[in-house]
Amino acid sequence: MRVVIEADSAAVGRRLADRIAEVLSHEPSAVIGVATGSSPQAGYSELARRVASGELDLSGASAFALDEYLGLPAGDPQSYAETVRRSVTVPLRLDPSRVHVPPGDEADPEAAHNYERAIAAAGGIDIQILGIGANGHLGFNEPGSPFDSRTRIVRLSDQTRRDNSRFFDSLTEVPTHAITQGLATILDARRLVLVASGASKARAVQRALRGPVSPDCPASILQLHADVTVVLDREAASGLEGWVATVPAQEQPA
Ligand code: GLP
Repeated sequence: MRVVIEADSAAVGRRLADRIAEVLSHEPSAVIGVATGSSPQAGYSELARRVASGELDLSGASAFALDEYLGLPAGDPQSYAETVRRSVTVPLRLDPSRVHVPPGDEADPEAAHNYERAIAAAGGIDIQILGIGANGHLGFNEPGSPFDSRTRIVRLSDQTRRDNSRFFDSLTEVPTHAITQGLATILDARRLVLVASGASKARAVQRALRGPVSPDCPASILQLHADVTVVLDREAASGLEGWVATVPAQEQPA
């Protein structure tokens, strides 16, 4: 596991963009796993800047989102389909027909299986971007999620609903359920890059990187993957003091 510690979230974003660009440089049709939430946003902005300036071309890439709320009306601005369209598809100039988000309409009982099949048909995910919940969740794999879980419908924990209520007008508007890639689905990606900023993530980051590998902290499953880059700001890394050093991304193997 490579751990990079940066001064602030803008620098975290640049590192995330560097890692994606590095993969794209030798795999222009890479399949990118995209996360929503605030953590990767600086990275998406930096990628958008590079695309706009002509430094980077993502037109051959595909994307699969990690998760989606259940039950929000189509087009709801808080749905992850809309969030991905706004912060990834449009600014990164991806082909919308190659951007996939798990369906949140509950109508199709085969939806979760079909999402797994679509990822497999695309050749699997080349690089998966991840944030981390304050309770250690990945995607919407809450504590207790089995390590062999695949895409499925899950109930959101009270903490996750409270944490995410900042994006809604009130807590009661936050959906109670979601569809999420499973932990085994995430671990199938060829490369993982986790980004976290801020003191509220310090404990989860410490448990994920240093704690026991256990479903109690779903992100601890990262310790089992062979190609993980973790990009943190100083606050998110504050629980790791004395354990890791900054490793310049350009010195890291692909
Ligand atoms: C959300 C998402 C995750 C995200 C995490 C952290 O609930 N389902 O995919 O990584 O929680 O969110 P944020 O980056 O906003 O702190």
